Amino acid sequence: MKFFIDSAEVAEIQDLASTGLVDGVTTNPSLVAKSGRDFIDVLREICAIVPGPVSAEVTATELPAMLEEGRRLANLAENIVIKTPLTPDGLKACKALSDEGVRVNVTLCFSAAQAILAAKAGAAYVSPFVGRLDDVGSDGLRLIADIVEIYGVYPEFTTEVLVASVRHPIHVVEAARLGADVATLPPGVLRAMFRHPLTDKGLAAFLDDWAKTGQSILNRPEDGATDGSRPARRSA
Ligand code: G3P
Repeated sequence: MKFFIDSAEVAEIQDLASTGLVDGVTTNPSLVAKSGRDFIDVLREICAIVPGPVSAEVTATELPAMLEEGRRLANLAENIVIKTPLTPDGLKACKALSDEGVRVNVTLCFSAAQAILAAKAGAAYVSPFVGRLDDVGSDGLRLIADIVEIYGVYPEFTTEVLVASVRHPIHVVEAARLGADVATLPPGVLRAMFRHPLTDKGLAAFLDDWAKTGQSILNRPEDGATDGSRPARRSA
């Protein structure tokens, strides 16, 4: 499963990219507004940090302007992926841009019917919003199951399922269980995936017991190394 970071906060993306666990980034107009920064500057900085796909959403709603915006954004960096909304013009733009070799992430997907249209329009990714469905009492993960099942029937459907609107680690775990290709995670969700109180407790106990031995792995008298530097490699 690929992990993308769902954010336009460059510092957050930089920090999480250093884990080596980040395969891409998704942004949207709300995330860009929240950053308080210039959209193009943010995209350029993110693309320089993360070599994987970086989704940038068009803000036009009609085909001609969508295409103009999409082409301009795609020219910023080779790893830019264009986001278009799941509307008739958004899918027309997806088809046209995909035919030009521009990867498109069709966003704001809330039904399997919409996901079928995205695949037929040649989308590289479709973004079903699981959290927002859960928020209104629907079953977001059920939609993921439906899309993965339907896409699996048709080899010509090469669109990757990019689980979006992720609210907590269980969304990630269950999406992985269902075989989704990608999950795009708010920074806090990725950080939450690392944490478990029993890990913290167990590590503290290991270190406490180790301290009682008085031993050191690096600073050993027989190696003659007392400054923590690596001892000379012994000859065979
Ligand atoms: O960026 C697309 C999607 O992940 C946004 O989800 O519901 O947290 O705004 P949401």
